[in-house]
Amino acid sequence: MPIALITGITGQDGSYLAEQLLAKGYTVHGMIRRASNFNTQRIEHLFNDPEIYNQRLFLHHGDLTDSSNLNRLLEKIGPNEIYNLAAQSHVKVSFEVPEYTAEVDGLGTLRFLDSIKEVGLEKRARFYQASTSELFGLVQEVPQTEKTPFYPRSPYGVAKLYGYWIVVNYRESYGLHASNGILFNHESPRRGETFVTRKITRAAGRIREGMQEHVALGNLGAQRDWGYAPEYTEMMWRMLQQEQPGDYVCATQETHTVREFCEHSFAAVDMPLTFEGEGENEVGRDEKGIVRVKVNPNYYRPAEVELLIGNPEKARRELGWQPKVTFAELVQIMAKADWDLAKKEKLLAA
Ligand code: NAP
Ligand code: GDD
Repeated sequence: MPIALITGITGQDGSYLAEQLLAKGYTVHGMIRRASNFNTQRIEHLFNDPEIYNQRLFLHHGDLTDSSNLNRLLEKIGPNEIYNLAAQSHVKVSFEVPEYTAEVDGLGTLRFLDSIKEVGLEKRARFYQASTSELFGLVQEVPQTEKTPFYPRSPYGVAKLYGYWIVVNYRESYGLHASNGILFNHESPRRGETFVTRKITRAAGRIREGMQEHVALGNLGAQRDWGYAPEYTEMMWRMLQQEQPGDYVCATQETHTVREFCEHSFAAVDMPLTFEGEGENEVGRDEKGIVRVKVNPNYYRPAEVELLIGNPEKARRELGWQPKVTFAELVQIMAKADWDLAKKEKLLAA
């Protein structure tokens, strides 16, 4: 059976992809970072399964900033498929740690591709790069396709731009089976809690249970094309099953504001909101008039990506990939999971 190596296996996407590959019969190797505390919560269920862990799932310490570590891992594992999902993935944080973000998200991709060449895996290993709709940034076309010019708006976007082009360059220069998935935002109950969707559904659950008064957000008018993460990791696998490598947009072709995400989330916990005011003075009130959503300019970004909406026609045509979970269903899934979580937390605290 094929052998896969996943970097970023402890992240949202890595955890879903690992489950899916194991279900397909793969042997899965995951790179994890040393942390001062456990960072494997999202794959704990796999880790605790004696039929899986150290049988078909193996974890290795590593870091995308360490070339010799990458060489050793590739030599030892000899993967057929490599999914490079590891990244400093937070756009706002990238303004605070721009150099580190470039090291990991930009040069880290180069290190990996060069290691593949260095250890002679060019013919054997297929490579997936976690590229992003953040490449489109200040969008030059609506909706965005594989042909839309890039205009990144953050150190994260610029670092990922390098990652994108170095993948194309190694494919064209050395014949590597290397592909870019240009994925638009995708979410789930496993999403990190500092990304806006999860921040909202976590707050909605906790506010509904009386554990929190309100949530403070930044730009409520930003528009995103939000999909359901497990469907996007399935698309990653499909890309590597193609005879020829390529670059694909992965999106729902629907866009919604952060404000709409709030409205759906709070409605899902039976607390419908009404928004009033503008800019920093905008608030979302519940039916009793209590402010539940506020704006705090600290969450604004030095440069913002205002609108993203992708056209996944190429993926539909060539990979047979089509997202099924709608925006309303996605919010329901996340809000319900986080309401349940808040109820459990409340019980534990009692
Ligand atoms: P995530 O939840 O933030 O996970 C990122 C993963 O990368 C974590 O496992 C993290 O380890 C690991 N990591 C960070 N820095 C590393 C380093 N220096 N060396 C090795 N591992 C490192 O991100 P995600 O949402 O699953 O996204 C997966 C990938 O897709 C990322 O590259 C992201 O930029 C890209 N992407 C995401 C989206 C989206 O909407 N989710 C859209 C487009 C592209 P720890 O657990 O130890 O922190
Ligand atoms: N995080 C956050 N927190 N974002 C907020 C907040 C807040 O309190 N309030 C408003 N926003 C706005 C941001 O300004 C942005 O316009 C939008 O909500 C989405 O922010 P995030 O959820 O942080 O995601 P992102 O779009 O910046 O980046 C995510 O998607 C990219 C794909 O387009 C990340 O997953 C990236 O790794 C990924 O490449």
